[in-house]
Amino acid sequence: MRVLSGIQPSGRLHIGNYFGMMKSMIGWQEKSDLFCFIVNLHALTSLTDGKTLAANTMEAGRDFLALGLDPERTTFWVQGDVPEHCELTWVLHNHTSMGLLERSHSFKDKAARRETPHHGLFSYPVLMAADILLYQADVVPVGKDQKQHLEIARDIAGSFNNVYGKVFTLPEAAIDPQLATVPGIDGQKMSKSYNNAIDIFTDKPTLKKRVMSITTDARAVEDVKDPDSCNLFAIYRLFLDDEGERELRERYLKPGLKYGETKKELVEMVWDFFAPFREKREEFAGRDGYVRDVLAEGAKKARAAASVTMDAVREKTGLKY
Ligand code: ADP
Ligand code: TRP
Repeated sequence: MRVLSGIQPSGRLHIGNYFGMMKSMIGWQEKSDLFCFIVNLHALTSLTDGKTLAANTMEAGRDFLALGLDPERTTFWVQGDVPEHCELTWVLHNHTSMGLLERSHSFKDKAARRETPHHGLFSYPVLMAADILLYQADVVPVGKDQKQHLEIARDIAGSFNNVYGKVFTLPEAAIDPQLATVPGIDGQKMSKSYNNAIDIFTDKPTLKKRVMSITTDARAVEDVKDPDSCNLFAIYRLFLDDEGERELRERYLKPGLKYGETKKELVEMVWDFFAPFREKREEFAGRDGYVRDVLAEGAKKARAAASVTMDAVREKTGLKY
């Protein structure tokens, strides 16, 4: 079974990325043929500083390796290193209705945050469909917010297959139903772009500052608290097993819980949880050559798989003459 997913190198990775998708994606390498890539072409829709994009791409490479991605088992590459992504995107544009893209929540949200939304933002789901269909992925592990993008990819694949016969596998999204969207320190969805994230790889004073500023309600120490509406609880539970979560819930439901103390505990939990990954990441920090070699080797493997699909597409569409 082929499993594929990607992440944008648009900033530092945060715990929402980790629990929302990276953890489950890395888990797939034990039981499937995993394709994992850094989507730098998509990042062009939001990043216009070349040096930053290049640096973030290397950083994402180190981060994935530190978090346990094994390049011996997994095909791991940078999207822009395989030109077939763009070629297939153009072909797929011709099987994508305007209405389908106009209904995209992500486009509407992003467009609302910019003065003049550009075409890259509009076409974003088509490039994402190409990413997935190029490799005939069966399963795509993503966070909840990407569900509609997966539906769009299936829709485009279906339209193309209807015209030319079956070329593309229809991909399934793998979204952990247990996992709600991870909130940021302000209670909105945690996102690199909302300045509300708790980064995975950060120094302890910064971590402390972020965690201490998680917003909570104004209930007093002697009040009973509501875990289900509490932002701090939603983040804390990510680091607990079922038993730990039950205990924390009980503490919320009895008078006496202090938000400040609970936040201090959380700082230690987060710090300890990522300690082994942090150590590995420090190892990779001085080994850019190694990281580049891994990505170049991955691009070679990815390209070999992509060209099988592109040959079929060229043949069916008549691009091959
Ligand atoms: P960001 O919103 O920070 O830019 P991305 O859009 O690059 O994050 O998301 C990368 C992956 O991480 C996606 O699969 C997305 O669904 C997941 N993800 C991002 N933020 C969260 C979150 N707050 N909770 C759960 N999953 C998330
Ligand atoms: N749009 C995805 C996100 O923001 C990233 C992405 C691009 C992706 N291409 C993909 C995810 C293909 C899965 C499969 O998170």
